[in-house]
Amino acid sequence: MSAVCLKQYIRVMNTQTAGRDYDIALVGATGFAGSLIAEYLAGHKAAAGLRIALAGRSRSRLEALRTTLSGSFDLERIDLLEQVSVDILVQKTRVVIAAAGPYSRYGNLLVASCAGHGTHYVDLSGETPWMRRMIQHHEHAARASGACIVHACGYDSIPSDLGVLFLQQVMRERGRGTPDAIRYVPGPTEGGFSGGTVASMLAMIKEAGSDADTRAALRDPDSLTPDAAATPRSRKRRRFDPWLRAWTVPFVMESVNSRIVRRTNALAGHPLGPAPDYREVISFGSGPAGFLKSCFASLGMGAFILLLLFPPTRYLLSLTVLPKQGQGPKAAREGRGRFLVTVSGYRTDDQEPPTRIRVSAERDPGYGATAIMIAEAALLLVDQAEADCARPGFQTPATAFSLPLAERLTAAGVKFVRE
Ligand SMILES: NC(=O)c1ccc[n+]([C@@H]2O[C@H](COP(=O)([O-])OP(=O)(O)OC[C@H]3O[C@@H](n4cnc5c(N)ncnc54)[C@H](OP(=O)(O)O)[C@@H]3O)[C@@H](O)[C@H]2O)c1
Repeated sequence: MSAVCLKQYIRVMNTQTAGRDYDIALVGATGFAGSLIAEYLAGHKAAAGLRIALAGRSRSRLEALRTTLSGSFDLERIDLLEQVSVDILVQKTRVVIAAAGPYSRYGNLLVASCAGHGTHYVDLSGETPWMRRMIQHHEHAARASGACIVHACGYDSIPSDLGVLFLQQVMRERGRGTPDAIRYVPGPTEGGFSGGTVASMLAMIKEAGSDADTRAALRDPDSLTPDAAATPRSRKRRRFDPWLRAWTVPFVMESVNSRIVRRTNALAGHPLGPAPDYREVISFGSGPAGFLKSCFASLGMGAFILLLLFPPTRYLLSLTVLPKQGQGPKAAREGRGRFLVTVSGYRTDDQEPPTRIRVSAERDPGYGATAIMIAEAALLLVDQAEADCARPGFQTPATAFSLPLAERLTAAGVKFVRE
């Protein structure tokens, strides 16, 4: 299809969604993340003029949530495991915010329905094997219907994906060209995990135990890259990072975020080269103390993963220390917490220090700041649908929203700044 035809086609599809009942339906509104997203939308001026539905499986829980919010919201009952129930809401809606996880359990019908009905969609999934399946099964339908589907619109993976995009722009503006290596290093962070996040991790671990495709997707750093077969293998990881000149261990969310960054790079025509040297690491400094700390951190993480892999210890952990579904960090509820990440671009031929940008917020990253990120992404998608410029197919945060989302987030308190 030519570019002009494609544009006309998208215009027709967007016009078809214009007469729908809701601009936004927040699915999973009664969950821990969902209720924070609802709270953010309720306090948002741009959202005030929109028709928004809070959707969930329990009418009474939805009503209880609505009484805590200012502004006007419709309520919609939806059972994510029932096709008809899902299709009814999807056909009434322009943009779905999906906050019900584990996505591998609750997301299948919703994504299929959005892709089939030209309904735009954003979620908080960090379940890469599931995202891969959704792309494989529904990319064609989404492109045909005009639906823009964007996974990973929270702390995973917006700071990474938009951070890398912002870094590239800053390097271009400063005449520093393209980075040969990029390092994402988290700084001081105050936050925690919710029961929904833990359930999603456990669902993925269980699935990996019984399904070879899931295991392969978890091992493959290019499991979300469209032309993965033609992509050179990434370099072997070393504990001493030559660019940072420090001992490191992988950041816990690197396995999700780096796959999104690599998908963006491929969808955008490889501006970072065919196999970008992108890593997310915790850095421990250069000396022997740094080496020892990195070893202890690796051992600690390895032990925790082993405890999660082994069913009896997994069961014990879920009974004792791990939060239950619906529960989450108190700081997020109270509007507290914080995070800071630094994304640095290095060039082999450069005598100057690396170019750096920072992403930060005075909010718990996984929930308070995440609610801002996904809500702003959905609001931007409503604007894009209005202007007939939402991109069809399975996009990433960077390819769907690009730097206008970073600008909106900066204004909303999730700041993208250059050093
Ligand atoms: N990427 C990120 O940065 C990030 C950040 C935060 C969260 N997350 C992800 O977001 C997801 C949600 O986390 P959470 O802590 O908010 O989970 P949660 O509190 O357990 O909420 C789950 C939601 O799903 C709803 N639900 C369950 N079964 C349903 C069904 N059959 N039909 C309709 N709704 C159903 C629940 O409704 P009820 O209230 O009726 O039980 C609830 O609203 C998880 O997958 C988590 O990993 C990702």
